[in-house]
Amino acid sequence: MQDIIIALDGYSGCGKSSTAKEVAKALKYTYLDSGAMYRAVTLYFLRHQVNLQDSEVVAEALDAINIRFSRNEDSLLNETYLNGENVEEEIRKMEVSKNVSAVSALPVVRKKMVSQQRALGKDKRVVMDGRDIGSHVFPEAELKIFMTADLKVRAERRMKELAEKGGGASLEEIENNLRERDKLDSSRAQSPLIRTEDAIEIDTTYLNFDEQVKKIVDLAKKLIER
Ligand code: DC
Repeated sequence: MQDIIIALDGYSGCGKSSTAKEVAKALKYTYLDSGAMYRAVTLYFLRHQVNLQDSEVVAEALDAINIRFSRNEDSLLNETYLNGENVEEEIRKMEVSKNVSAVSALPVVRKKMVSQQRALGKDKRVVMDGRDIGSHVFPEAELKIFMTADLKVRAERRMKELAEKGGGASLEEIENNLRERDKLDSSRAQSPLIRTEDAIEIDTTYLNFDEQVKKIVDLAKKLIER
């Protein structure tokens, strides 16, 4: 038996986090949502009207931010805390989604988040999802998955998810946001979203949720039980 790191990267809205959660549950591993960390920073920056062009202000704001995950004993899932406040719901809102790619493109922001992510994964037994987990955060990860799905299908899935939480965004708005974030996340200078050569690509357009989870769990078990 060996402990491994599972890196799950891919475009926005491919179902990375819901898949990663289920994979972690099946393997009794910890699920870590790296996007939630960038979202929490974005929420703080929005609340404090941090000017992204002013590097001093950005650095000061970053120093004032503490992000941690804490397990919700009912759902058994990790929730995101920003300076002690549970922001799990707040960070999923459209206002944050619209600003997160610009915030996460800032090198100082990435530096701080990446060092925290590495610390969280130092004992392995984690499933971490994001954009640069296999390429930059854990290039040595034993299992790297790159998830893709058709943009329309992704937008419809995200719409359904948001509607369950009270809605607030149209299909068109969601589709535009996903397209825009894919573009920004893939073209930024520092650790952009890329598929590394050693990543296994899974297109979830025509897969159902259980199938995609099983695929990854089976791949992981082969490595764990080797
Ligand atoms: O996974 P998500 O959609 O919640 O992530 C929100 C944003 O955070 C995404 O558009 C880009 C950024 N992100 C990143 O730059 N690197 C990561 N490892 C995870 C997310």
